[in-house]
Amino acid sequence: QKESNRSAVLKGKRVLITAGPTHEKIDPVRYFTNPSSGKMGFALARQASLMGADVTLIAGPVQLDTPQHVKRIDVTTAEDMYEAVLSNYENNDIIIKSAAVADYRPKYQFDQKMKKSPGDYSVEMERTRDILQELGNRKTSQYLIGFAAETNDLEHYGEDKLRRKNLDAIVMNNVAKEGTGFAHDTNSSIYLTKEGKRVELPLMTKDELAEKILLDVAHNVSGGVF
Ligand code: CTP
Ligand code: CA
Repeated sequence: QKESNRSAVLKGKRVLITAGPTHEKIDPVRYFTNPSSGKMGFALARQASLMGADVTLIAGPVQLDTPQHVKRIDVTTAEDMYEAVLSNYENNDIIIKSAAVADYRPKYQFDQKMKKSPGDYSVEMERTRDILQELGNRKTSQYLIGFAAETNDLEHYGEDKLRRKNLDAIVMNNVAKEGTGFAHDTNSSIYLTKEGKRVELPLMTKDELAEKILLDVAHNVSGGVF
């Protein structure tokens, strides 16, 4: 009984998920990135699909297999991800931004490999566009969920991002803790919703966390499961 309920809980819903890091190139042999593995976003895509959703996964450069029945769009830079998300978000019911998007990219890119010379070198960086902020500004009926990796003051930053980006919920990962966050198979998090729900989610696999988040989102219209 429980299984059949679960497998249908997102039936007919369109879910857009972003995953992984971005690469911001400076020359043909160098780029800026972060330790995101994409595992959380891929777990969300897999679980949403198992719950019957029609899933689109926009993935940065990661080495992971596409979950069954999931439509995958590969991107490289923050700007690519912005374009892909903005041209796909509109007819989705639920949007989950678990990608670790670069906040800055090199202001200048070189077609040829930079050669070293004596002395120090500094790179001028410019801001990328905030995809989630843009979605929050444009949002109509979509249920919008953000992720954040922090090392300190989780709840303070979480509540601030939730409000500032006009989100429905945010999952805060404490990346300073052992065994959680970037590149691990497990996460421990705090889940906050705009209605003021606050749930501590202890260390669990990313698939388990994905399932919990999606069940809450699915039931949100009728009151939530936590
Ligand atoms: N995000 C985004 N586009 C960006 C930067 C971040 O869509 N250019 C999204 C992430 O996908 C994530 C959320 O915003 O869902 C929070 O990301 P985070 O890095 O924690 O927040 P920032 O607003 O970038 O603030 P800071 O890095 O200074 O903490
Ligand atoms: Ca950031």
